[in-house]
Amino acid sequence: MIATECGGIRHSEDGPGEDAGRFEEEGHTMTERTQVAIVGAGPAGLLLSHLLDRAGIASIVIDARTREEIETTIRAGILEQGTVEVLSESGASDRVRSVGHRHEGIELRFEGEGHRIDFAATVGRAVWLYPQHEVLKDLVAARLAAVQDIRFGVTADAVDDVETDRPRVLATGPDGERIEIEADVVVGADGSRGVTRQAVTGAHGGYFREYPFAWFGILCEAPPSADELIYSNSPAGFALISQRSATVQRMYFQCDPDEDPERFSERELWDMLQERVPGTTLQEGPIFQRDVLRFRSFVAHRLLRGRVVLVGDAAHTVPPTGAKGMNLAVADVVLLADALRALLLEGDDRPLEAFPERALERIWKAQHFSWWMTSMLHVAPDASDFDRRRQVGELRSVVESEHGRAYLAEAYTGWPLAR
Ligand code: PHB
Repeated sequence: MIATECGGIRHSEDGPGEDAGRFEEEGHTMTERTQVAIVGAGPAGLLLSHLLDRAGIASIVIDARTREEIETTIRAGILEQGTVEVLSESGASDRVRSVGHRHEGIELRFEGEGHRIDFAATVGRAVWLYPQHEVLKDLVAARLAAVQDIRFGVTADAVDDVETDRPRVLATGPDGERIEIEADVVVGADGSRGVTRQAVTGAHGGYFREYPFAWFGILCEAPPSADELIYSNSPAGFALISQRSATVQRMYFQCDPDEDPERFSERELWDMLQERVPGTTLQEGPIFQRDVLRFRSFVAHRLLRGRVVLVGDAAHTVPPTGAKGMNLAVADVVLLADALRALLLEGDDRPLEAFPERALERIWKAQHFSWWMTSMLHVAPDASDFDRRRQVGELRSVVESEHGRAYLAEAYTGWPLAR
């Protein structure tokens, strides 16, 4: 197991005024001090520590997973234009532009016909196909190259003293050792099942919506079936034809949330996929991974309590249909990095106090877009003939209208970031 890859904890001989890296042994608990303690080494946590470091603000990032787990978990791969700009301009990833693929449109397919939504023509913007684990590899490499303190295999157990200006993360290290990190601010970037959400929302929880379907996802060895992503509505349900590389493709089709991924033969999977993209011929090949992705919409009732703040999936989750998950995490972090610069470099706490309200504006827009794409394209198990025909009417009113196409393109490629 990788214990820590930190190697760069900044020791200090200075007195209590010094902010980063003071150690104290208290019984068997090691107490450390930093400016920002970040729980979670996903895109949100790693990008935040990167942006803070560039501003001269110290942080410690912990994550229960190993570096390998973080870098190999396969996730969606669409980056908004603004996300790409933040990653490349901040020096977090050069590869996104060289290895990632720029896409200037998507296809919406229904009633056996494809309709291109041309991002370049409608809003002059684009998205990049660059899987999340590649973003994570770049971020981990950039952080370790900057001798940043990232601890893998360290599990956060609780957040204490939340309402004070010295909140603490209580954690357990890879060998069972107890670790305490005291900080000016604790950031919860530990996803929907982490401990920080509960520390901030308490019994309040959040706004929540479930869907009566899930995605059956496959990875296969085959050439791409199309130049761009295909989002397809068919009487048999939704399918998404996405890509990973010249030789590996990612595809999904709508399924029951309790579906058993092993139930179908490869032939059956290809037939189901093919039936859901009528008018397209899929390039088939060996399927080497299959999974069922349940999804839901969620927004925490609180994003900030005392000096503990939530970002990314800890604060909200979206269904994957609009590809907003990681992009929304990046937008949160850009806003929060500014607020923490104001707090920790200028002593101004107003931007942090205003963070929830400002972040929520985009979060709810993205919630709406993700819900809308999901509802417009999937077939609910109890859909009536009326519902089906209304849905096709909705799809037509989007693709046949310049304004409809522009609305979709604007939301998909991402609203401007607060920079
Ligand atoms: C993916 O490639 O995994 C993907 C792409 C677009 C989405 C969701 C997932 O909307």
